[in-house]
Amino acid sequence: MADGWILGIESTAHTLSFGLVDATGSPRPSCTDTLRPTEGGIHPREAADHHVEVSSHLLKKLLADNNLKPSEIGAVSYSQGPGMGACLRTGAAAARSISTYLGVPLVGVNHCVAHIEIGREQCGCKDPILLYVSGGNTQVIARLDGRYRVLGETLDIGIGNMLDKFARNHGIPFPGGPVIEKHALEWLENNPNSSLQGLELPYAVHGMDLAFSGLMSAANKLVSEGKPFAAVCWSLQEHAFAACVEVAERALAHTGKAEILLGGGVACNQRLRDMSALMCEERMAESFCPPRMYCIDNGTMIARLGWLEIGYGRTTTLASSGIDQEMRTDQTPVVWP
Ligand code: ATP
Ligand code: FE2
Repeated sequence: MADGWILGIESTAHTLSFGLVDATGSPRPSCTDTLRPTEGGIHPREAADHHVEVSSHLLKKLLADNNLKPSEIGAVSYSQGPGMGACLRTGAAAARSISTYLGVPLVGVNHCVAHIEIGREQCGCKDPILLYVSGGNTQVIARLDGRYRVLGETLDIGIGNMLDKFARNHGIPFPGGPVIEKHALEWLENNPNSSLQGLELPYAVHGMDLAFSGLMSAANKLVSEGKPFAAVCWSLQEHAFAACVEVAERALAHTGKAEILLGGGVACNQRLRDMSALMCEERMAESFCPPRMYCIDNGTMIARLGWLEIGYGRTTTLASSGIDQEMRTDQTPVVWP
């Protein structure tokens, strides 16, 4: 067991977040701030500047909210990769400084694995297929032989990135996913007998892999042809989520596992949650969704994975604490139960 609380620092992209687990690994809600550009995408340098600006306020708030003194922190965990270099570096620098100042161990962890482990902790599932759907990542993952293996993934852009870009093309600022969800819901409420006829989009499944940029171009084309924007939002969700759930279902069939766990920001979407639950019901499997605050990027998941790593004897030296933008999900040995 760790000696004291573990502080987790998440900074892979546009979100900076500090979170905590106590010495038994039990999570506390994170203090988070996300850069939301009013137009255009995220510039890594601007996101990194944002993280530097808000970090001291967020950390103070986290400690105050939990009535903690800095001396009660027993270790510092941070996202070592994958992500945008400039953003990762700010989190890593903060983690090194805090751990050196407090004289406590440092542990650099894999962001993707952290999404899985907070989901397992929150939902109590044992051996799930993870459907990891975020801005930058879309992967179907299973634990096999001591690693989380990627069974299928996007061949181009992440599903959240696709939703955000489609939204941006139609004047909706980042993050577009939740706004598309609202439009899709409204369309269905106003058109309960709606059909996808005339709103078809290309199929995004390639074996166990996925692809989303063709889907986005086709959706843009439907809007430019005069199809109602809300109807296209609905169709886009139906097609993109069906593709993800189909690959997840095939992963259940191939591995013989019986649990699906959703993770990543797009897992906040109720329609995706419902589709996954329906698929699982039909296969006598179970679909698990963590609370939304633990689907989006959060420091708590980094603290939770740091707690597991430290509990099983791994810490990171300063010399090996450099970030790894391209870190793969299956790079991390999974030695805990
Ligand atoms: P990662 O580094 O793991 O790729 P990320 O930087 O994309 O993560 P997350 O917080 O995991 O950050 O996910 C953000 C994404 O989730 C955005 O693309 C956003 O549009 C999408 N999203 C959030 N809520 C919803 C929703 N209700 N429906 C669809 N997409 C959503
Ligand atoms: Fe993430």
